[in-house]
Amino acid sequence: MTNKDSTILRQSLHGQWSSRIVFILAVSGSAVGLGNIWRFPYMAGINGGGAYVLIYLLCIFAIGLPIMISEIMLGRRGRRNPMTSMELLGLEETGIKSWKYAGVIGLLAGFLILSYYSVIAGWTLNYFMLTAQGLFDGIGPSGVDEVFNALTLSIKTQVVFHTIFMALTILIIAKGIKAGLERAVTIMMPALFIIMVVLIIYAITQGNFLEGLSFMFRPDFSKLDGSSLLSAMGQAFFTLSLGMGCVFTYGAYLPKKESIFNSTIAIILCDTLIALLAGMIIFPIVFSYGLEPAEGPGLIFKTLPLAFGQISGGTIFGSLFFILLGFAALTSAISLLEPSVAWMIEQKNVSRKVSAITIGLGIWALGLLTVLSFNELSDFTFWKGTVFDNFEHLASNILLPTSGLLFTVFASWFMSKKSSSEELNGEHSWQYRFWRFLARYIAPIAVLIIFLNVIGIF
Ligand code: TRP
Repeated sequence: MTNKDSTILRQSLHGQWSSRIVFILAVSGSAVGLGNIWRFPYMAGINGGGAYVLIYLLCIFAIGLPIMISEIMLGRRGRRNPMTSMELLGLEETGIKSWKYAGVIGLLAGFLILSYYSVIAGWTLNYFMLTAQGLFDGIGPSGVDEVFNALTLSIKTQVVFHTIFMALTILIIAKGIKAGLERAVTIMMPALFIIMVVLIIYAITQGNFLEGLSFMFRPDFSKLDGSSLLSAMGQAFFTLSLGMGCVFTYGAYLPKKESIFNSTIAIILCDTLIALLAGMIIFPIVFSYGLEPAEGPGLIFKTLPLAFGQISGGTIFGSLFFILLGFAALTSAISLLEPSVAWMIEQKNVSRKVSAITIGLGIWALGLLTVLSFNELSDFTFWKGTVFDNFEHLASNILLPTSGLLFTVFASWFMSKKSSSEELNGEHSWQYRFWRFLARYIAPIAVLIIFLNVIGIF
């Protein structure tokens, strides 16, 4: 394929977002999800709080920002799924096709992540129903433990909700998401934000707010080691949906005239704000009920029902919260499925429906292993723990950083200055220079150091 062919091919594909705001909301919809409300607080809890949060924020701005810009830039220039775009751009800019493997790693990571993401999202749907039935009214700490354990021990309940969630995801993708997604996101994101503000007022007035804050924001560096550094970086990747081509794919729909830089800043601020709010809601409740901050994946499924059980109107707020969390997860899940579906449509020449169902079923089946990790297979541990722990570690801590690194190195070192600056405010703008500095030096070096540290070389 010559350069000219590839340019012509690219022009004919894909529609565009109807406005910049919609793009920002769609990427924020992808970014804000279980990662902010479920994963961030429990990771901060396991890793001792303050110092971890500080490193996380550093990772967001020094690594996440340049990588997100690079991904959107590549997506908008490639105009196709991450693998094909990387192949085309690789050819165009360097004459080498194998850049496509950066896209392949990303697609694999998405497959893996969605398989367990859907199981956890299923928990939130189940919790929505339990809360709506008033099960948590006046419940105590041991009660919430029991409910959570009953859920994770029940294969049937988890499979039912995992199936419902995957079915919704497949349905939306199969229908062609733009109209539905655009509308859903504009309603759900503000609603989620309002509920979170209500909950934070509860945490301030009813919880042990100061202890919660000090756990989150007072850094105790003695608690940091190589693995918590790696997981802070992994969390930055995960929460911003980086490294697997989600943002990349969404960037392919961004009109040429829109500023990538400003959109990225807005998305990152939105995502970070929601994660910090989640922590500021959860930890005060943890401390006021004497719960364990290092609880792990069950954290929000225990603290929040406990709080909802005490507030008047908790049944309504609680159900609302879990259903919104389910929707936030849905807008993220869609973005996890879209890149591989786009790949299948473009590469295998099948319809959107068939691709969505085929890939969705594969992911659903893989998800069963996560379900079993909490019961039948909970003693089957290797490497990092259960199958679920290994999926998580492999995807967030290894695959995402690897392909994110490759995307960024490609955009900043291998793509010509002319091409990259066309996408980003022009060669002489401070935005372009700022991005290029972070993307060329800071992000790759930081990712490499953290990797080496984990392997034990540093
Ligand atoms: N960012 C989402 C969250 O915080 C999850 C997600 C969506 C994601 N797309 C992704 C994570 C791509 C990693 C890569 O819940």
